[in-house]
Amino acid sequence: MPMIQFLSNCSVDGLAIAAKSLRQGSLVAFPTETVYGLGADATNAQAVARIYEVKGRPVDHPLIVHIADLKYLEQWISDIPEYAIVLAREFWPGPMTLILQRSELAKDFITGGQDTVGIRIPANSLALGLLETFHKLGGVGIAAPSANRFGQVSPTTAEAVQEELGSYLSDTDLVLDGGACDVGIESTIIDCSGNVPKILRPGAITNFMIANSTKLTSIDISKENAIRVSGSFAAHYAPLASVFLDQVPIAGQGFIAMSDVVEDEGVIRLAAPKTHDEFGKVLYSALREADKIGLKTVVVHQPQGEGIAVAIRDRLKKASHN
Ligand code: TXA
Ligand code: MG
Repeated sequence: MPMIQFLSNCSVDGLAIAAKSLRQGSLVAFPTETVYGLGADATNAQAVARIYEVKGRPVDHPLIVHIADLKYLEQWISDIPEYAIVLAREFWPGPMTLILQRSELAKDFITGGQDTVGIRIPANSLALGLLETFHKLGGVGIAAPSANRFGQVSPTTAEAVQEELGSYLSDTDLVLDGGACDVGIESTIIDCSGNVPKILRPGAITNFMIANSTKLTSIDISKENAIRVSGSFAAHYAPLASVFLDQVPIAGQGFIAMSDVVEDEGVIRLAAPKTHDEFGKVLYSALREADKIGLKTVVVHQPQGEGIAVAIRDRLKKASHN
């Protein structure tokens, strides 16, 4: 396995090294507030091709382009509806990806041949620092999918990135270590190519927040999404262990539920979050832990209600599909 350099502080030097590596065509995994991303210069076809190789991801699945500031948005898009401007102003930097009509800068190797491009300004100081430094070196955006092998659980720590991708990365690639991600669930993806916002993937920016901000009723098509969102495959976000939802766990099985739910003796408690936000934050690391200790089965009691719970149930549905 190659030695991957971990840069574990937010120092200006560390970010300069990472931004320069990206400009030279290397890959840099970095934390965002949602999950860790595997970054490449979004204008470099060879570097982007390596993302697909390292992830083992089908090449027609589009990538999200990350930028540091709204002033860089214009270059990537050819059109933007009024409601998307409202969303961008309100929720960026933050856990939201907007799908917009692409400009010529967004090549087929980013969009998977679609006429739209996904853009996000992440709310994580290390990610923003990297992006700022990258822009200063002439970069226009960092393409980054979640830093996991295709179909697997997204990593929420630098160690998890190393476990997932360490053997596929080369020794010029880097992993920035920013600790555990705050949200822990991938961004809300909103298709802004039509008259109203359409939610392709639920996340921490909820249906309610979108409707409240735009005064438009958003359509949640995440359940029956026909376009190429790789996370929309039935089986996705899945650990090696089989995941069962809302059953009573028995001895030897892993268990994830809110802290007020108690388990029988012999059940291996993997997480006991006190709030739904905490549930989102610890879910993926708990599923990883199940695989690490070799559990065959994990039972999860789904959080109920609205807010982030909707996104958590969406991912659990996919993780439990077999
Ligand atoms: O929170 C996140 O969004 C993380 C962090 C790293 O930013 N990124 C992430 O990327 O989850 P990824 O590639 O694992 O998931 C992004 C999803 C994919 O399913 C992709 O197909 C979809 O976004 N996507 C990207 N561009 C799209 C487009 N133009 N049209 C429709 N779907 C798009
Ligand atoms: Mg992903």
